[in-house]
Amino acid sequence: MVAVSDILRGTHTGHEVELRGWIYRTRSVGGKVFVVLRDDTGIVQATVSRGSVPPESFAAIEKALIESSALVRGTVVQDKRAPGGVEIRASDVRVVHFAEKFPIQEDLSEEFLLDVRHLWVRSQRMTTIFRIRHTVFDAVHEYFRDRGFWEVHPPMLTPAGSEGGSTLFEVEYFGRKAYLAQSWQLYAEALVLAMKKVYYIGPSFRAEKSRTTRHLTEFWHAEMEEAWAGMDDVLRHAEGVISHVCRRVAEERPDEIVALGRTPEFLKAVTPPFERFTYDEALKLLVSKGVEVEWGKDLRTLEERVLTEGKSKPVIVTHYPRISQAFYKARDPQKPDVVLGFDVIAGDGVGEVVGGSERETDLETIQQSLRDQGQDPASYDWYLDSRRFGSVQHAGFGMGMERLIQWICKLEHIRDAVPFPRTPARYSP
Ligand code: 4AD
Ligand code: MG
Repeated sequence: MVAVSDILRGTHTGHEVELRGWIYRTRSVGGKVFVVLRDDTGIVQATVSRGSVPPESFAAIEKALIESSALVRGTVVQDKRAPGGVEIRASDVRVVHFAEKFPIQEDLSEEFLLDVRHLWVRSQRMTTIFRIRHTVFDAVHEYFRDRGFWEVHPPMLTPAGSEGGSTLFEVEYFGRKAYLAQSWQLYAEALVLAMKKVYYIGPSFRAEKSRTTRHLTEFWHAEMEEAWAGMDDVLRHAEGVISHVCRRVAEERPDEIVALGRTPEFLKAVTPPFERFTYDEALKLLVSKGVEVEWGKDLRTLEERVLTEGKSKPVIVTHYPRISQAFYKARDPQKPDVVLGFDVIAGDGVGEVVGGSERETDLETIQQSLRDQGQDPASYDWYLDSRRFGSVQHAGFGMGMERLIQWICKLEHIRDAVPFPRTPARYSP
């Protein structure tokens, strides 16, 4: 058995091959059936002529509908008229399974395609994105493993949240309440005192009601945490991992990138350092562009759009006001009303791809922040032990894998960055 990509590359030209796949397109003219076959690596045309194959094979392929599975044997020849410049002249063909009439034809609505997502995942567009996603995940693992980070895994069922109550999914846990993890962070802060440098990629859950083009209720989260490290150390890793991913994708997936409307050159130019602004500087820049933000308010999609306008690399905003931020972020000793926290913001409307900070190490301060946010420090007692037994300065961040993929692939909507998206409106198929 051979792969379509090898046929297109010319590896088998002039030779007899066997190929199996699914019918992508089919057309009969005179005594010929032109079958475009797809496998996981691409599409190629096979020409089946009456007389060149057994009569029952010809009859079968003539009536097979698209998405039927089939096996073709034949010789690979160059032919300018065929898509990709080569085709298979079939000497035999076998239909493995006759598909029913495939529900996806031309020009169907977004909603319908989401209803039949389990079939739409076969499309060239989706598989192109999945191949890039595969490389993005590999590159993130590689980045951290090559730099001495241990991969460790947190639980998904947890007794309390870390990112605020409003986006917690509640689960009934044998008569008690549990929550789906919003982030691994609280566990990472325990593990970092054991393993020093840790990372993980896994699912995070947010009961995010906002229907935007950049929110999912279930997303894949790449998170890292490092002991004896501060905000600047982990910021360098945020820039580092993003540029590493971009370079790997540019090198290994150039055709896929071009098919989606980006260029490998664009990705190769995403190198450190990224432009940095403090929150205060960002506010000034926004005012100069006619956008007024009240000090203390978080930056919204609109502001993130303005900050990244005309920029081909993501930008970094640091030192956000403490009032808008999670309880674990460290105060800036120079300016206690801001935190040593940052966001990495990407263009094209994707916005925040990374959020991170140095962590508050003072027990009293964290307990007070929890109370200020209406939470009971007692429910975080196990977590607060990280401030009772050998607390050290540490920092970390979380990166939304689908947001990163959305930006790399220039996708209009985040849901296409994942095979089966979960949004407020749907959790099936
Ligand atoms: O900024 P967030 O909420 O930060 C945390 O969860 C920290 N505990 C991370 C850490 O320091 N270990 O989320 C981090 C990133 C965001 O920048 C965004 O890219 C992504 O996770 N994210 C989402 N992606 C898709 N859909 C959602 N609803 C998302 N919420 C956050
Ligand atoms: Mg954030």
